[in-house]
Amino acid sequence: MKGDKTISGFSKLSKRGKIKWIVENFFKDPENVMREMTSYWLKNEEQQKVLDGFSENTISNFTMPFSVAPNFVINGQPYCVPMVIEESSVVAAASSAAKYWMSRGGFTSTVLGVKKIGQFHFNFSGEKSRIEYVLEKHKAYFEKKLKPYTENMEKRGGGILGSEVRDFPEEPGYYQIQMTFDTCDSMGANFINTILEEFSTLFESKVKEEFSGLYYFETIMCILSNYTPECVVRASVSCPIADLGPIKGGVTPRQFAEKFAQAVRIAEIDPYRATTHNKGIYNGIDSVVLATGNDFRAIEAAGHTYASRDGQYRSLSHCLIEDDIFHFYMDVPLALGTVGGLTKLHPMAKRSLEMLGNPNAQELMQIIAAVGLAQNFAAVRSLVTTGIQKGHMKMHLSNVLNQLKATEQEFKLAVEHFSNKIVSHRSVKEFIDTLRNTKKA
Ligand code: MEV
Repeated sequence: MKGDKTISGFSKLSKRGKIKWIVENFFKDPENVMREMTSYWLKNEEQQKVLDGFSENTISNFTMPFSVAPNFVINGQPYCVPMVIEESSVVAAASSAAKYWMSRGGFTSTVLGVKKIGQFHFNFSGEKSRIEYVLEKHKAYFEKKLKPYTENMEKRGGGILGSEVRDFPEEPGYYQIQMTFDTCDSMGANFINTILEEFSTLFESKVKEEFSGLYYFETIMCILSNYTPECVVRASVSCPIADLGPIKGGVTPRQFAEKFAQAVRIAEIDPYRATTHNKGIYNGIDSVVLATGNDFRAIEAAGHTYASRDGQYRSLSHCLIEDDIFHFYMDVPLALGTVGGLTKLHPMAKRSLEMLGNPNAQELMQIIAAVGLAQNFAAVRSLVTTGIQKGHMKMHLSNVLNQLKATEQEFKLAVEHFSNKIVSHRSVKEFIDTLRNTKKA
């Protein structure tokens, strides 16, 4: 295609070469955009090189706010939690819930399991029992051959935990060997995928050896499963109902507790509400997952599958009122790492982990689950009392004012003016324009 905006050999161009091609083809103001894109490069060339290495065709950096939520007390330990998120009010909500629960016993987090899963998928023309026979008969051989890959993990207390053959009536002739792993402090994707690929070759050769041409065997794929229903952590808070107050919005602690519990029940029974409810939980979880260099897509995918484990998508959190005690808790799958991946490579991920006291993977699971629960508590508390727009609007106002490059004095006047008015980009702009015009006149 002549004249189209496609290119071959793009990845071979230098960083500047890539930007040059992009700005010339996709921007109206190439020189300015070139200057801007390069202005986001880090001054520290070594660090920039590390960042560039995380992905492909890297041309610049996309900056996000790095925030902190202090006053988290989790299992009796105080934490200042790093959060990377672009949405206003999330960090304020987490901090406020952390402080609220700090004086009511803090958060309790318990790891319920750490098992990860990987699958070797294949087609085989024989019965399931034949596969089970090969798996069992050559168990010691497979273990020995996989030793070079499992040895280090075993020294750390992990490794392969088990394997089972699975079949699916919907797909006759298709089987999988599902393996379970303990990957200790690493998220484990590389470990699991390496083992699976090695194992698949060993297994295929043993099947061929056992049945010499009697059955058809074909490997389909080997990959970990991001669904980790046995790598789960429980976070909870509880206190006597009488201690819940004072509550904003002029409600008694009991009225608040009952309304809160009903809001959670609604998210348990209605997938539309459950999705938004759980989204609020992931506002907290994802931002710490990102800050610590973990894989937020894997974490989200697992959580949403877990939320639908009985066939309907439901709230991850639950609320109970028993004997005048308010209990709010959540079980959530969190397959995290504190070694490997980006955790020590990304300069800020390293600092995030340091801020958290260099936790191991289980401790990080406990912290992140507590932040998810705090976020959920803050969101539902606002929803059933004052509504969320008030808080959001405050942040929205400051974002718009920053965009309009408002001075300190303009900021002050705008905050005063909008304290009882609806904030929109247009209304703020009109207000600032009027201020500026009056000043000129
Ligand atoms: C907004 O990012 C999150 C909330 O919508 C969560 C919720 O509705 O529970 C406030």
